[in-house]
Amino acid sequence: MFVLDGDYGVDDAIALLSLAGEPGVRIVAVGSVHGNTDAARAARNALTVLDLVGLREVPVAVGAARPLAQPVELSAEVHGDDGLGGVAPPEAAVGRQPVGTPAAVQLVEAIRAHPGGCTVLATGPLTNLALAVLLDPGIVELVPRVVVMGGTLDAPGNVGTHTEANFAHDPEAADLVLRAGWPVTVVGLDVTMRTWLEEEDLARLAASDNPAARFVSEVLPHYVQFYLGRHGRPGCPMHDPTAARLALQPELARYVELPAAVELRSPTTRGMLLLDRRPFASHPPGAIPVRVAVEVDRDAVVGRLVDGLVRGDAG
Ligand code: BDR
Ligand code: CA
Repeated sequence: MFVLDGDYGVDDAIALLSLAGEPGVRIVAVGSVHGNTDAARAARNALTVLDLVGLREVPVAVGAARPLAQPVELSAEVHGDDGLGGVAPPEAAVGRQPVGTPAAVQLVEAIRAHPGGCTVLATGPLTNLALAVLLDPGIVELVPRVVVMGGTLDAPGNVGTHTEANFAHDPEAADLVLRAGWPVTVVGLDVTMRTWLEEEDLARLAASDNPAARFVSEVLPHYVQFYLGRHGRPGCPMHDPTAARLALQPELARYVELPAAVELRSPTTRGMLLLDRRPFASHPPGAIPVRVAVEVDRDAVVGRLVDGLVRGDAG
């Protein structure tokens, strides 16, 4: 079982689509957060994807509209104004509305309803997860794993020299979530910049009649264009779908397990993932190490994603 939280932009939508199609996976609830687009639109984007795959019973809650301690910053240049590359359906075309509960409260309720049963997959800034821990600290004992797309260790940052967007868009929340005492896996740019959708993958998606593949081909061009401009390379990284795949198949990556925190004070590196790599470092009482993905089986992750989208089953 999964509880999802994200800023439903292009790659969040693909991650949701791929998980929704995975045999045996049940999505219990979805929450939205500021980030790629505003939280209300992100919720609408999640509803659009769930509608597409017939999961009309999965509740979607709108989450935090802004970070804990800094102004909100949205990534329209990467994901388009609507978060879906400018091709999101109009509001009236989305079959249903988000639930009235805030995403952080929904997250607490979902975890409490399924003690020990819900993996949390977070693909946006971690504001809702932090709020959920503040509301009900006892939930940290009830979650088998929190898988987070965010941060970078050795790869260059994507918003600053050392900073990745999800952590930089709410550093205080990321720090709180990493140090909350639950088992966290961090899937950052070290691996997600390697799970790159190549031109041949895009061509396979474009040639497919499957509705999931068609949707992906429609939402991707803006995102691909952004990455072409930035990296001069066709294709695009699959940040959030990689986190989703590693939540299902952790064996597709290699990890280091170390005490972790997030830099909060430096004006240049606020939001930077800090790992204590000293061999003699000890954990404070109650703390547990964070598992950080450092290498990934790119072909397995991308191959499975594209196969699933093209065939219409799991991604
Ligand atoms: C992360 O930021 C967002 O742009 C993506 O959806 C992904 O979650 C990558 O830094
Ligand atoms: Ca995201």
